[in-house]
Amino acid sequence: MKLFEPLDAGGIKLANRAMVPAMVTRLSGEDGFVNQDITDRYVRYAQGGAGLIVVEAMAVHQAKSGPLLRISDDRYVPGLTELARRIHDTSDSKVVPQIIHFLKVAKTGWRQTVDMLSLDDIDRIVEEFGDAVVRAREAGFDGAELHSAHAYTLASFLSRANPREDDYGGDTLEGRLHLITRIFDNIRRKAGHDFPVGVRFLADEFIKDGYTVSDAKLIGLRLAQLGAAYLSLSVGGKFEDAVHTSGQVLYPYTGYSGDRCMPGDWYPPAPHAQFSAEIKSFIKRHGYDTPVATAGKISDPDDAERLVASGAVDIIGIARGLLADPDWPHKVKNGERDRIVKCDYCNVCKHLDGTHMRVICALWPQGSLQAPPDDRSAMVPRWEAGADLTAAPGQGKVTLKWKKAPGAARYDICRTDSLGQTQIVDAVKVTRWEDHTVLAGMPYRYEVRAYGAAGQGGTSSNAVSVTLPLPEFAQDIR
Ligand SMILES: Cc1cc2nc3c(=O)[nH]c(=O)nc-3n(C[C@H](O)[C@H](O)[C@H](O)COP(=O)(O)O)c2cc1C
Repeated sequence: MKLFEPLDAGGIKLANRAMVPAMVTRLSGEDGFVNQDITDRYVRYAQGGAGLIVVEAMAVHQAKSGPLLRISDDRYVPGLTELARRIHDTSDSKVVPQIIHFLKVAKTGWRQTVDMLSLDDIDRIVEEFGDAVVRAREAGFDGAELHSAHAYTLASFLSRANPREDDYGGDTLEGRLHLITRIFDNIRRKAGHDFPVGVRFLADEFIKDGYTVSDAKLIGLRLAQLGAAYLSLSVGGKFEDAVHTSGQVLYPYTGYSGDRCMPGDWYPPAPHAQFSAEIKSFIKRHGYDTPVATAGKISDPDDAERLVASGAVDIIGIARGLLADPDWPHKVKNGERDRIVKCDYCNVCKHLDGTHMRVICALWPQGSLQAPPDDRSAMVPRWEAGADLTAAPGQGKVTLKWKKAPGAARYDICRTDSLGQTQIVDAVKVTRWEDHTVLAGMPYRYEVRAYGAAGQGGTSSNAVSVTLPLPEFAQDIR
């Protein structure tokens, strides 16, 4: 598979094109130091064989926040060095820290915006990013990634909603690009030209009057011209449409742009890959081969392979899918897709991040802080005396019930529609599930498959078919 071919991302020699995009874990304390839980989380990704691991956003400055890693002072370097060393000792995964600057937010809902920054503040931010990249280099990382996406300072400068009236905004794209251009220049002077620096930015802000892929192509081209090692595309995740909960700081993933950023189970697969492909094609036509990474509800190996094999993008970011199962790369490479613990996009992880609680996956065994080891000797769950799956039609919904399979940690619900397309529509730990998204009058077939904690797939249940009767108000439909 092309997905498992090596790639040189601006000097970062990747063994394959599967990437863990940055995902805040809330496993660090407020002190910002690397601890054992953080190390275990990233070593686990390395064991699973991801080509590139982007360590969660870590602050380039000392501003107060909840639990968050820091790279804002030399005192953090020993811990970060140990983290990079442990990852390198585990596998050939490459690792970069995502480095972030954020503005102030208050529990009242107030937030600082980029127009409140003085020119001195801007100069300080430029220096802070430069110093952070120097520390990333000292710590032995393979590069660094500038967080210029979502609701954070660099993205707010790039935004079409940037309210500044001077030459760091002022209605022009060049104004919006001013800060990141200066940051690149300063990084080169401080950390050298040979240290790879990638950038994560938005392909579409997904807010009213926000920028779309039209601007993102130009932003991508400028970043390629500046020598970015790779471009990593995300979407949305903005403060502008965030919903404020009384007594809590604004969480930028609570509005529509937040839904787009971490698309839930009701979204189709890979809803944003097309934007990344457009950006890739645009910079390529301008003579730049800068690798482009995409992310957003990609976890089907066929989707991932299609995107890289067609040249649409170069790197596949799988955030929640690799949280659920860090062994995804190894399992796909070894033809063991059946053993993957498939993310069901329930967004429990997102909720934990938003409430500053330790981020885990709801599909892991109860009480686990890390993904369970890939234990091949673990018992394969099976129904010795049958699963007795039943499907009861109700008012606009179908209720499935089945028997417990000994050794099962979860059950995947497989639904086949009238065109013969089979989809895993959910993953649950209980033995009952309701389907609320069926069209009456159409036949559906269901099966349930039991999985062990390490993803070991057991037998499938019996299959059941059901067609909901048309409701009275739809009797004329034929
Ligand atoms: C719990 C959680 C934390 C995240 N933290 C970050 C982060 O620190 N930096 C970042 O750029 N994106 C962050 N993201 C966004 C992911 O990197 C990714 O773009 C998004 O989840 C969509 O990819 P997926 O569908 O494969 O999960 C986070 C996502 C989740 C679920």
